[in-house]
Amino acid sequence: MKRIAFLLLCTLLAANIQSQAFDVDKQLDYCHRQVMKSLQQLRPYDFTQEPRNILAGQHTWNCRKAVAEEWCSGFWPGILWMDYSYSHSAEVLHAAKGYTEVLKPLAYQPIYDHDLGFIMIGSFGKGLTYNAMQPIYRPILLAAADSLATLYNAKAGTILSWPRHVKDYGGHNTIMDNMINLDLLFWAAANGGSPLLRQIAINHATTTMRHHFRPDGSSYHVAVYDTLSGQFLRGQTHQGYADSSMWSRGQSWAIYGYTMVYRWTRDPLFLKFAQRVADIYLLRLSQTSDDMIPLWDMDDPRGRQAPKDASAACVVASALIELSTYLDEERKDNSDSQLDTNNSLPDAAHNHLDANPAHRYRQAAIDMLADLSTPRYQSRDLSTAFLLHSTGHHPAGSEIDASIIYADYYYLEALLRLKGLQQHL
Ligand code: GLY
Repeated sequence: MKRIAFLLLCTLLAANIQSQAFDVDKQLDYCHRQVMKSLQQLRPYDFTQEPRNILAGQHTWNCRKAVAEEWCSGFWPGILWMDYSYSHSAEVLHAAKGYTEVLKPLAYQPIYDHDLGFIMIGSFGKGLTYNAMQPIYRPILLAAADSLATLYNAKAGTILSWPRHVKDYGGHNTIMDNMINLDLLFWAAANGGSPLLRQIAINHATTTMRHHFRPDGSSYHVAVYDTLSGQFLRGQTHQGYADSSMWSRGQSWAIYGYTMVYRWTRDPLFLKFAQRVADIYLLRLSQTSDDMIPLWDMDDPRGRQAPKDASAACVVASALIELSTYLDEERKDNSDSQLDTNNSLPDAAHNHLDANPAHRYRQAAIDMLADLSTPRYQSRDLSTAFLLHSTGHHPAGSEIDASIIYADYYYLEALLRLKGLQQHL
């Protein structure tokens, strides 16, 4: 027992040294300064217009109508809530409430698509997390979860992501991004909503795990199912380079999604799967990129000449920090035995791996955040965003090499998660 306690202490100390080397507070201060610059730009506030992107060469946010067919409306309020949790600025709190509450009608009108989850988790969800004095947010989130569940197809076992594209795809379509929205269903089931919401989320994650991935653990962007029989028809891309390629943000949604599903279910199957999809991402990243920020698609034949996607790195960094905490827990529970969580990987990936997966994921996340926090990626005086070099929809020629609001959201979330981890080590 003494030896086990000693090993555990060494593990925690090593993790502590690893994460202390990166100055999280310095980056959180930077984010706060950029938030204040953005608020300055946006005053007088029109809460119905939410920041979306700053294209290459521009200096201020292009905004989109919040309550429209816009999937990113939750990210700016989410940034404000997260910044408020750190800065405690009254100005930021005022703006966080305003940009959040304008979104309320979305929870009660017929659902447009699965992105309602992204919108509500970022806005009302973060509001609830960081300002407990907002009990009025709970019924709104519950209504949104019920609305999201109306897109569930029990035959297919997944949520219909894009009702407007059923004809284009020849069936019930589910995209990898949809994994993120399960958080809203799990939360609702645990907070007074129907238990069915949890079951829908588990079914969606399980079906997606079965059909939405190639044998090496990389994901398709879109899975198409027969609407009536629910039979899986094919996997293909929408925003990636090719049907068979690794679209970096798609894979980032998978890593984040399965980590979150494990948070709610504690089912080891999901923990193992989160590692599997993370490991192939890290392996391909090491083969294709000159740093910890991926190309927008890891199979773009231009190789290192292809645009980057900082947003994918932000999503993955945030997910890996969370994932590392579950592996720490698992290690504590299993400290007598040698864990082997990498059975399903190709041999090449095994060679690439550190023996302690919690360390490896945490270090990878810190390395990502360190790269993102350099002048190469931070906007600094160029604009009011946090980060440069994200890619939105490459095949459509949209938001290439831009500042995009969700990159900033997940960057800040990752920084706060790392700060939380440092405080507990
Ligand atoms: N959810 C859309 C995207 O990741 O671009």
